[in-house]
Amino acid sequence: EKGGYPHFMLKEIHEQPTALRATIGPHVEDGLPQLGVDALTDEMLCGIRNIHIVACGTAMHAGMVGKTAIERFARVPVDVDIASEFRYRDPILSQDDLVIIISQSGETLDTLAALKLAKERGAKTLAVVNVVGSSIARAADWVIYTHAGPEIAVASTKAYSVQLAVMYLFALRLSLAKKTQPEEEIRRLTAELQRIPDQLAPLLSNCNEIKYLASQFMNSDDLFFMGRGFDYALSLEGSLKLKEISYVHSEAYAAGELKHGTISLIVNGTPVVALATQKNVYEKALSNVKEVKTRGGRVILLCKENAPVPEDVADFVVRLPEFEDIFMPMLMIVPLQLFAYYMSVLRGCDVDKPRNLAKSVTVE
Ligand code: F6R
Repeated sequence: EKGGYPHFMLKEIHEQPTALRATIGPHVEDGLPQLGVDALTDEMLCGIRNIHIVACGTAMHAGMVGKTAIERFARVPVDVDIASEFRYRDPILSQDDLVIIISQSGETLDTLAALKLAKERGAKTLAVVNVVGSSIARAADWVIYTHAGPEIAVASTKAYSVQLAVMYLFALRLSLAKKTQPEEEIRRLTAELQRIPDQLAPLLSNCNEIKYLASQFMNSDDLFFMGRGFDYALSLEGSLKLKEISYVHSEAYAAGELKHGTISLIVNGTPVVALATQKNVYEKALSNVKEVKTRGGRVILLCKENAPVPEDVADFVVRLPEFEDIFMPMLMIVPLQLFAYYMSVLRGCDVDKPRNLAKSVTVE
């Protein structure tokens, strides 16, 4: 049932192109994004004043990418909340607010409770869920299903990718309704989104490069991830994946925050994974990498194929295909998942069933 793969996690990483096609395909009509929710008319979408994305763990990290995409395209303010924080902090909600709940299982207790609270307070609720008929899917006003298929490995991989796809589709659809971008631009970006599954092939066949990197870092006690904007959101997810399955301590930082404390941790040999895929902050990101390097950090830099990388900035450079900046998270996640996977394998951990964790968290 692992389809020839040694672990479900690796199988599920490789299923991402299929999962993305299944999720994106039904949500594009005549070259434009459509959510498949009749109630989400242009009028309804234009009435949304604030968006709150609420979820746990990896799903919350997908929400962080969603925030950046929605704010950039559709110019609607978005908060991202951890469900267990949101539900106990007396959130301010009104009927002009949309609460987007993201959950693979649709059964996460804190997330379900946050959804119920949002409904009680009169907000509109939209669930992005993978498991059909799950509690969250049933409780929400509206549902957009992701089509990752069953995810068995405890560490979420393909479910995250399809959550990102839905975040982008939602951002584009909202932008279309609000006319914040020309229709031609939305068509162009929708077509680019549809091309993403094909872009993953070289990244998935690149296993050996990533496995080699893991072999170079497998004995590390601590590992840092850093990036800005979308790259920061992906740093959080790369870091979570790593600590979850390889038990290596790791933290993710917004690169600009380094000099506000964290940089004191960087000494000779400290491993740092630096993500730098966004042109608008590329120079800033590189200067943060240089600061780390100057203090002896051992740097893996993830950047685009043609990005200029000065000599001596990084010990290892992982090149990602040239693609639209805003969609780079969907490409970059693959090497981050593979890195966590090989770290776990090389350290002899139980990849699919990491200690102390359950696939579906139905208790507080
Ligand atoms: C990490 C992971 C968890 C889940 C979280 C929410 O790899 O899988 O962080 O993302 O427990 O689960 P769902 O999406 O089922 O609500």
